[in-house]
Amino acid sequence: MAKPLGYSRTQIWLHWGIAVLILFQVVFGEYMAEAWDAFTETGAADVTLLVWGHIIAGVGILAFAIWRLFLRATRGVPAPLAGQPRVQVIAGEAVHWVLYAIMIVAPITGMAAWFGGVLQAGELHGTVKPVIIVLVGLHIAAALYHHFIKKDGLLLRMKRARD
Ligand code: HEM
Ligand code: HEM
Repeated sequence: MAKPLGYSRTQIWLHWGIAVLILFQVVFGEYMAEAWDAFTETGAADVTLLVWGHIIAGVGILAFAIWRLFLRATRGVPAPLAGQPRVQVIAGEAVHWVLYAIMIVAPITGMAAWFGGVLQAGELHGTVKPVIIVLVGLHIAAALYHHFIKKDGLLLRMKRARD
């Protein structure tokens, strides 16, 4: 399959939509953690709007991530920018794959805990926050490095759709 020149409009919307939802999960995740603690201690939880928000945003991330992976397999994504050291291309792709894994594993473990009562899944899910902060932090730092230091137009690939 020939690689497209850039990301499609849908791929770009999905990328930024997921970015906003991930930010919401990390900023407001502690309210879900409180509800979960109450549930595991007393068997009852106060299901507030933020708890529903966490569930809906999380299931949304899962659906959007599956959609993205489907588009990646059928339409494809642009080749890595030319002229980068090989190790940098490999590191970038490795971070992307771990981010995809998080977008799938985090909602599944969250649902297994909340709806299935699987305590170990809750423990695993509780470790997601620092991992996301480090990896998304690296990802953003790389995007800013390309934009402001290398000035190679990489960030614009997630802004302007191209076939
Ligand atoms: C990609 C999607 C998701 C992300 C990034 C995410 C992120 C988070 C974060 C950051 C916390 C707080 C951890 C803490 O402060 O200790 C949390 C807690 C929790 N989330 Fe999610 N979540 C996602 C999806 C879901 C879904 C779909 C559900 C269930 C319906 C869910 C259920 C829970 C539960 C039960 C907790 C408390 C467990 C614990 O803290 O050990 N999450 N989540
Ligand atoms: C301010 C926040 C963010 C910025 C500036 C940003 C920037 C970018 C840019 C410029 C690309 C294109 C890389 C290329 O063309 O080679 C990209 C790709 C990607 N981003 Fe982000 N991103 C952000 C947040 C996120 C978040 C929160 C996630 C998921 C947790 C994420 C996951 C990905 C993935 C998986 C790709 C690879 C897409 C593919 O080729 O399959 N990004 N990002």
